[in-house]
Amino acid sequence: MWCANVFTIFPEAFPGNLGVSNIGKALAANIWRLNLMDLKKFPAKSDRIDAIPYGGGSGMLLSPITFEIAYESLSNDAKLCKKIYFSPRGRQLQQKDLSAISHAPGITLLCGRYEGVDQRILDHYGFEEVSIGDFVLMGGEVAAMAIIEGCVRLLSGVVGEADSISSDSFQNGLLEHDQYTRPQTFRGLSVPEELLSGDHKKIREFRLQQSKKITREKRPDLWIEYVAAEMRAPWQH
Ligand code: ADE
Repeated sequence: MWCANVFTIFPEAFPGNLGVSNIGKALAANIWRLNLMDLKKFPAKSDRIDAIPYGGGSGMLLSPITFEIAYESLSNDAKLCKKIYFSPRGRQLQQKDLSAISHAPGITLLCGRYEGVDQRILDHYGFEEVSIGDFVLMGGEVAAMAIIEGCVRLLSGVVGEADSISSDSFQNGLLEHDQYTRPQTFRGLSVPEELLSGDHKKIREFRLQQSKKITREKRPDLWIEYVAAEMRAPWQH
């Protein structure tokens, strides 16, 4: 079963958003497991889980000794999982990273608080630093929930129609096309007539062209990548 191991000093923040809708149902149905590791239960010898930084500075850092004790209580399988530490310094993950993680046995996540963690925790245990955007949060818990939700929805049996994953933004390198429902006209705005035609080939083509236009306009960086990939392997597009 796919497992998210989460080191945090606020286990009570979980499952939070991960307990609702399809992700919560999948948790209850044992499609995935949430293994919370409460760092407060693993104090270092000094009886503190945090300590002041060498060289001075504000705030406290998670002690490497505390983390070592907590880490040792992980199963050997969990120790083999990819490790992520949440910080605004990190790389922003892409849909393809989440897809790779969802195909692995699980993920091990460290949520920082205070000013952060002792760098040797990241260096010794091989954590990748990951950010969810160029802004600063109070800690990594919300970021952990975002990454877990993004991975769990890719697991088999979590999202009803397999189709709604295949048409996701990013899945084929493009942003998703616009969507419309009833009524056919709302405040003078009509549903594009191509979608009313009932001709599935025409609808697919219309949506693809719209995805391309939206990607080009909203995310030129993704568009450049898409065009380059199309030139390398045109049969995939
Ligand atoms: N912790 C604090 N800010 C963060 C961010 N932007 N992304 C991930 N973790 C964080």
